[in-house]
Amino acid sequence: MQFEAFSGNPAAQRGDCLVIGVHEDRRLGEQAGRVDRAQRGALQRLLKADNFAGRAGESLLLPEAPGLGCARLLLVGLGAQQAYNRRAWRRALSTAVAALARTRIVRAVIALERPANANLDDAYFARLSAELSAASLYRINDLKTGKRPKPPALGKVKIGPFDARALPAARRALADGSAIAASTTLLRNLANLPGNVCTPRYLANAAVQVGREHRGLRVKVLNEAQIRRLKMGCFLAVTRGSAEPPRFITMEYRGGRRGAAPIVLVGKGITFDTGGISLKDPAAMDEMKFDMCGGATVIAALNLVAALKLPLNVVGLVAACENMPDARATKPGDIVTSADGQTVEILNTDAEGRLILCDTLFHARRYEPETVIDMATLTGACVVALGHHHSAVMSNDDELSKQLVEAGVRADDRAWPMPLTEEYGEQLRSNFADMANVGGRDGGAITAAAFLAKYTKGLRWAHMDIAGTAWVTGSAKSATGRPLPLLADFLIRRARG
Ligand code: BES
Ligand code: MN
Ligand code: ZN
Repeated sequence: MQFEAFSGNPAAQRGDCLVIGVHEDRRLGEQAGRVDRAQRGALQRLLKADNFAGRAGESLLLPEAPGLGCARLLLVGLGAQQAYNRRAWRRALSTAVAALARTRIVRAVIALERPANANLDDAYFARLSAELSAASLYRINDLKTGKRPKPPALGKVKIGPFDARALPAARRALADGSAIAASTTLLRNLANLPGNVCTPRYLANAAVQVGREHRGLRVKVLNEAQIRRLKMGCFLAVTRGSAEPPRFITMEYRGGRRGAAPIVLVGKGITFDTGGISLKDPAAMDEMKFDMCGGATVIAALNLVAALKLPLNVVGLVAACENMPDARATKPGDIVTSADGQTVEILNTDAEGRLILCDTLFHARRYEPETVIDMATLTGACVVALGHHHSAVMSNDDELSKQLVEAGVRADDRAWPMPLTEEYGEQLRSNFADMANVGGRDGGAITAAAFLAKYTKGLRWAHMDIAGTAWVTGSAKSATGRPLPLLADFLIRRARG
């Protein structure tokens, strides 16, 4: 989909369909007012005759639009005026795009009122409009064999109105939003694939493909023998029970100054998590195909920084394998040695994410990183703590944690900090090894982070637990694309100040 920014009166914009918003109380906002005047009061008359109530989620397509530059007019409900905030605007925009997608309309002009006091400057209004429009058109890459529904015809979307002086900034923000949307689609498509298709090798090939599409992006994939040479004993302990070979993916993007310390992004790439010998309950086990969402976020993020040519050095590291039960599989009580030489007693083979991450985080040191951020669907305990609305952030650097939380607010992809003090690490004591891989039920999301913290001493590091946010469970089951919007905002800010 192509995006354009426009300025001036929406009533004069040319296209197949103009989209405006209407509040519940029939009071016309600025844009709707301009349309009403161009139509000599026809819009007011239509509302007075109770043809459209303006409730959130409602839309009405008018096949004729006299007085306008567009052939048709789509009314979208904005809900009550006092309650018109960012969320209501997002809902209205999604409703609009969904309604357009049900028609054969190709060129739309969207002129929804901008919510006041929502911290939406021109650039964020434009970026989020592009991201959200594209997300509303996303269709799951399913493997259904029936007749494919026609893809939506919508191809050109004009967003506005912007002040004429703001047009250059708006155009750039639309391009950013469009690139974020494309990377989010890449992430969602990888995550929605079943575990028998999206294997560690498949994930690695996807990363290689991304590398081929961009200059300045170097992708290397290590096989099991090479992983062994790196002494990643914890990673190898997880993959032992699997017939699918593991992969260690490195993606290096050099867009910044030569020699400038990179930001290293680390992702959990478990392409299926059965729990191993500590086998999971059958209920909803299929959803453990999403256990590679952190890894897919890293691949998508490298795709994004390369597409936007951000002046930054960024490295992506993804440990990819399955967690399976087998005669050769790691057993509860087994003790293994991680890449840094510490011994770990694996009391629960279902706490595998931290095992592949600890070796990867240790490996990150080779890059002498400025910052390390890992993303992982790490614990069910995180879902208990925060539900599905916020990702968790745990960090050894309060400023970094704050930056991530603020990026999430701006990007509408929110995260919340959790404490990471030393007591939590003490829950990992083992009688037989330097530490155990689990710390009991209580504070499970934090003890998982405390385990990782043992490998990130001296690094500026943050861990994001995305177990509750990376996918939607139930009838709308699908990967969400989170936390890519948050990460994108963080990286774009880093690059452009
Ligand atoms: N991938 C799961 C975490 C998970 C569970 C994400 C449910 C989303 C929904 C992870 O590997 C896991 O199994 N964690 C265990 C850790 C426990 C054994 C300490 C968990 O959360 O139960
Ligand atoms: Mn697990
Ligand atoms: Zn897992």
